[in-house]
Amino acid sequence: MTTKVFDTKEVQELLRAAANVDGRNGDARFKQIFQRLLSDLFKAIDDLDITPDEVWAGVNYLNKLGQDGEAALLAAGIGLEKYLDIRMDAADKAVGIEGGTPRTIEGPLYVAGAPVRDGVARIDIDPDSGAGPLVIRGTVSGADGKPVAGALVECWHANSKGFYSHFDPTGEQSEFNLRGAVRTGADGKYEIRTLMPVGYGCPPHGATQQLLNALARHGNRPAHVHFFVTSEHCRKLTTQFNIEGDPLIWDDFAYATREELIPHVVERTGGLALGLKADSYKEIEFDFVLTPLVSGKDNQIVQRPRAAATA
Ligand code: DHB
Ligand code: FE
Repeated sequence: MTTKVFDTKEVQELLRAAANVDGRNGDARFKQIFQRLLSDLFKAIDDLDITPDEVWAGVNYLNKLGQDGEAALLAAGIGLEKYLDIRMDAADKAVGIEGGTPRTIEGPLYVAGAPVRDGVARIDIDPDSGAGPLVIRGTVSGADGKPVAGALVECWHANSKGFYSHFDPTGEQSEFNLRGAVRTGADGKYEIRTLMPVGYGCPPHGATQQLLNALARHGNRPAHVHFFVTSEHCRKLTTQFNIEGDPLIWDDFAYATREELIPHVVERTGGLALGLKADSYKEIEFDFVLTPLVSGKDNQIVQRPRAAATA
């Protein structure tokens, strides 16, 4: 069918009515966004001659996505979350902010409420025979290069099966296993004692993997560790680093990899003296450089639904 109806009065009126653009009530911004998105969808149906069967497949996919609770997972997998980062990078460049630790996606698996420790945190609570000890340490500094005291470094990552506590399908992990937070002292230093993570893979029968399969894409991420770094006089940093040597580093389904976020992994001994489960351990030194507030404000606080629990 080559019929085009998008530009007809009937369709344009239908769009205005559906978004209630001429109505007085409702949220003006929401109406504006909704009308545009609905309009782009209608136009795509016309342009690509998307069939009723294809439209209903899409509508029912949304049902499965919701049932699986995977909308935020899908957002990472289709590059939507990366796109927001690209826009924030460009906005920073436009106001002359550069030089801080690069941001990268938060992902959908943060849980608020992890215990906070001073200076050093041990975050592996559950035994995990598949994972060796890992120490992550470094300094938080501001744009002026000076150490930031009282900064909060929050950290979360997967276990040796690639599962995150709170979201683990086996139900085997304690609530805050491999999640924790450290408050820096006067020297700006933090240290996290944990276990080496393994890369995450999307639930194999979930809606996200279903969509990726249709695109002939995989749903895997390299091993990585997430961070939020916050401090009163700097902007919040949302980032992750990858574990050097992981074969998926440049093939991350969520597009979070950045050149500056692949620190070296160093072999160390003396783990038993630190209370680690083995004497040999891996160490990653990773310094965080925060960026200044913009007109006195932290414009990096992103509101999104997040899981929360109590320790
Ligand atoms: C997804 C999983 C992650 O561990 C992550 O960091 C980002 C995204 C995901 O499944 O979409
Ligand atoms: Fe992750």
